[in-house]
Amino acid sequence: MTLLLPALTARAAEPTVYPISNMFDPLSKPALMIHESSIVVSLICLVIFLLVTGMIAYVVVKFPSKGASDDRQEPPQIYGSSQIELAWTVIPILITVVLILVTTRTIGEIQDKKMPENAVRVTIIGHQWWWEIHYMKPDGKGGWITDFVTANELHIPLSPKDKPRPTALTLESADVIHSYWVPQLNGKTDVIPNHQNHMWFEPWATGTFLGNCAEYCGTQHANMLIRVMVQKPDEFEKWLADQRAAPRTPLDAIALQGRQVFFGNSCVSCHKIAGTVAVGLFGPDLTHLMARTAIGSGVAPIGQASLRDWVRNPAHLKPGVLMPDMQLSEAQVDQVVAYLMTLK
Ligand code: CUA
Repeated sequence: MTLLLPALTARAAEPTVYPISNMFDPLSKPALMIHESSIVVSLICLVIFLLVTGMIAYVVVKFPSKGASDDRQEPPQIYGSSQIELAWTVIPILITVVLILVTTRTIGEIQDKKMPENAVRVTIIGHQWWWEIHYMKPDGKGGWITDFVTANELHIPLSPKDKPRPTALTLESADVIHSYWVPQLNGKTDVIPNHQNHMWFEPWATGTFLGNCAEYCGTQHANMLIRVMVQKPDEFEKWLADQRAAPRTPLDAIALQGRQVFFGNSCVSCHKIAGTVAVGLFGPDLTHLMARTAIGSGVAPIGQASLRDWVRNPAHLKPGVLMPDMQLSEAQVDQVVAYLMTLK
């Protein structure tokens, strides 16, 4: 029983995962604002739909054909009724103006949001086919610089409605156009090369929210998945502190060999591990790889088996991936995986 208990309590503490990205169940302020204006717009459209279909049904029932002779008679031809023409011009214009006002108001409120002092600032850079995530800190001169870097999984604090703490995202692309979309937290925003876009979250529920790249960006567009972990403030602060620190796990013999293989090959020219000579920026930062839940931007849950599969030949899990097959021997694959698994 004592052996079972830790496992049980660990499971009980697991955060909720929202497996279906349900945009009809918004759990963050901008998503709710979009949801509310979509309901107003849908209701107006529903009224128009019912009016039009109702009138068609009325005419069909009220004026049925009275036989072949009736079908050959032309109905009365009316030209130039200014009343009717005015009505069907002015009423649609008024409806369109109302729709424009409702939507531009929401767009303006979301886009012009002033970020408070306590906002978490993150820069997300889209790559084929993963997300580079920079947590930012003030540079002391009014600007922002990178605090630390991670990939694919965005951790943000809970933002209670009475004490909001937004997360402000700056979106950039390293190659083609992507789109960042977590339906329960906000609408989608394009991620464009040589251009900065912005979005923000103010979530009032903890848990893991799933999203996708929402703009076709190449072979593995479908495997450019997003995970946003909304955490309670103390858990978020702990996560921040862990990310800032260097990995501390001692290396056993096989992991030491793995480190030699890693640094003896070109892994270091694409990947970064803080505190080492690996400073590559082309692939994901691996400093705290094992603190993530998945590899390959959500293509498989992280673990020894999936890491092994990935290191042996990344294209097996993710065909078209830009990471090459390093042609390592089976023993070297085991060693590199042992080393990677110490990066907590
Ligand atoms: Cu990135 Cu689709």
